[in-house]
Amino acid sequence: MQPTTLWDYPSQHYERFLDDTGTVRTTRAARTSRAFAQQGSQAYEGATPSWVVWQCVRRYTSPGQTVVDPMCGGGTTIDVCADLDRQCIGLDLAPSRPDIRQGDARKIALPNNSADFVFIDPPYSTHINYSEDPRCIGRLDAAGEDQGRAYYDAMRQVIAEISRVLRPGCAMGLFVSDSWRRTQRAKRDVFMPIGFELYARLLERFDPIDIVIVARQSAKIEKGNWRMAAEAQNFYLRGFNYLFLMRKPGPEQPEPPPAPVTPRPDRRPSGPRRP
Ligand SMILES: C[S@@+](CC[C@H](N)C(=O)[O-])C[C@H]1O[C@@H](n2cnc3c(N)ncnc32)[C@H](O)[C@@H]1O
Repeated sequence: MQPTTLWDYPSQHYERFLDDTGTVRTTRAARTSRAFAQQGSQAYEGATPSWVVWQCVRRYTSPGQTVVDPMCGGGTTIDVCADLDRQCIGLDLAPSRPDIRQGDARKIALPNNSADFVFIDPPYSTHINYSEDPRCIGRLDAAGEDQGRAYYDAMRQVIAEISRVLRPGCAMGLFVSDSWRRTQRAKRDVFMPIGFELYARLLERFDPIDIVIVARQSAKIEKGNWRMAAEAQNFYLRGFNYLFLMRKPGPEQPEPPPAPVTPRPDRRPSGPRRP
């Protein structure tokens, strides 16, 4: 387990991990025919690093408990939960595989108080085109002419739904990055403090557990041309994501015993990264 609030890891995926009893296990992906282990889809643009989900699920749930991911994307949370023997309900507006249910995160088709943990990695404004569905929150500009009102209102609705489906006293994790863009035509730089804005909305419903900074091993940061552009044009590349860990008010649920160590990094990063 990562012991501090600064998380860094050399790979997008993991191949071996310690389960709840401290036994070394290989992932479901490594045991099947996949050439190398991965959680979620390698081709999915905007996938969450699976070890981030692993850390949350391992720390805040026990085997058999139910984890919900209302924006499941390439299915990372489902695969991590399978490794850790948790039940996972993955939903997405544009399901990428059959075990993801179709649904709008603003109206999660689950009963009240039915989840033991919720993980969510939402669109960070319009930086990736996830689908043509007009309900996609990734089509709402956090720096639009409405000052991002539509994006933040949509995310407030998602946060309210997470609060509704989560059992009182249980935890949730929201993984997000700020965003920045240069508008050539208007000749102006736009910084979107999405992390702070969403954190303010989370506080309307949840008590804070902690805030983790996750270092981004982004391909963009590693590429020389991006580095040179950032220096020459005087802008910053996104270097970290926030992981906001929150608890729904209520009687605190007993938490599982801590795992001895983190899953083992087996190789250098693979798969697509967030731009
Ligand atoms: C950052 S991706 C999630 C990545 C995922 N955790 C993974 O590892 O693959 C954001 C997802 O939110 C989904 N999405 C956008 N608007 C949505 C909505 N209103 N309801 C449900 N899902 C939505 C997109 O289709 C996209 O798959």
